[in-house]
Amino acid sequence: MIHHRIRQSFIWALTLALLLSATHSIRIFPQDSTNTEYTEAPIYNNGNQCQNPSLIIHIAMTLDSKYLRGSIASVHSILKHASCPQSIHFHFITATSAAFDLNNVVESVFPNLSFEIHPFANEEKIKQLISHSIRPALEEPLNYARIYLSEILDSSVARVVYIDSDTIVVDDIRNLWSTALTGSRVIGAPEYCNANFTTYFNNGFWADPVLSSVFAGKRPCYFNTGVMVIDLERWRKGDYTKRIEGWMEIQKQRRIYELGSLPPFMLVFGGDIEGIDHRWNQHGLGGDNLVNSCRSLHPGRVSLLHWSGKGKPWVRLDRGSPCPVDLLWAPYDLRRTNM
Ligand SMILES: *[C@@H]1O[C@H](CO)[C@@H](O)[C@H](O)[C@H]1NC(C)=O
Ligand SMILES: *[C@@H]1O[C@H](CO)[C@@H](O)[C@H](O)[C@H]1NC(C)=O
Repeated sequence: MIHHRIRQSFIWALTLALLLSATHSIRIFPQDSTNTEYTEAPIYNNGNQCQNPSLIIHIAMTLDSKYLRGSIASVHSILKHASCPQSIHFHFITATSAAFDLNNVVESVFPNLSFEIHPFANEEKIKQLISHSIRPALEEPLNYARIYLSEILDSSVARVVYIDSDTIVVDDIRNLWSTALTGSRVIGAPEYCNANFTTYFNNGFWADPVLSSVFAGKRPCYFNTGVMVIDLERWRKGDYTKRIEGWMEIQKQRRIYELGSLPPFMLVFGGDIEGIDHRWNQHGLGGDNLVNSCRSLHPGRVSLLHWSGKGKPWVRLDRGSPCPVDLLWAPYDLRRTNM
């Protein structure tokens, strides 16, 4: 009986090995429920246009099975448009349990990529701090990893660009990375001063003079935390992680906003961020937090497309009902399609 079972699993392993070698593609499961297979990305080398290849650009991104296809497309797009792709170092933050599998996927899809996997050790701590929001996806612990980059990344890393998984970069990432953060500013991101800032916090917050005084004398604007340039040295010095956690504690006790990781960022940095050109975050391409809908690009130049909101391009493409902007995502998709 036992022998039989062992023989069966051996045959199964052999079949799997043959299948893998025959298709020369990467298959992962059971982490990824869709059993997605990926093809190997082309190798992107530093070209003649690469100035100062010794300047290393650090990029942080989260990796999970649900958005993996998006992350892989995003990494692919960054490499493809970079003047110095070999000078980019990726920091992937994963759930502890998925670290091993995701490391293998990244290694096989990007054979010469300079990267580190950082298992997210604060998962349990952050779970205690998260209060429920209007969209369950916003409550994923990994969604809060951006708050801990100063601890997760080695202390020798002075600056990092954080990028969400549902993005495509169509410009040289060095241009974003080298944004000057004037004065003592800690983060840079595109700001949207036409959005009604009041609506991101509830009446209870605005009615409380102590809480709302956080914005006294400032002119805070909405910004999206999906694309940020972060000075990690200033962050560490000012202990900004603690400050954000402090607001999350307050939210836990008396609920002052409805969204996930964005409001505590706005409470700490609102009115004090370096405004970056809007072309670096054409966000909202997935609709809003409640409705998956087609949106068109904002006028002007585009360096980064961001499918924030409920709709994701890979889902809409698979469903056979893509939005026009999803066709801009498709060329970066490395999911293997069987011919
Ligand atoms: C792989 O990366 C290393 C270090 O970045 C580089 O020296 C080497 O040329 C790359 N190999 C290929 C085939 O691109
Ligand atoms: C912004 O939103 C608040 C609360 O919804 C509202 O009272 C206020 O009139 C709005 N301001 C503008 C300029 O639209």
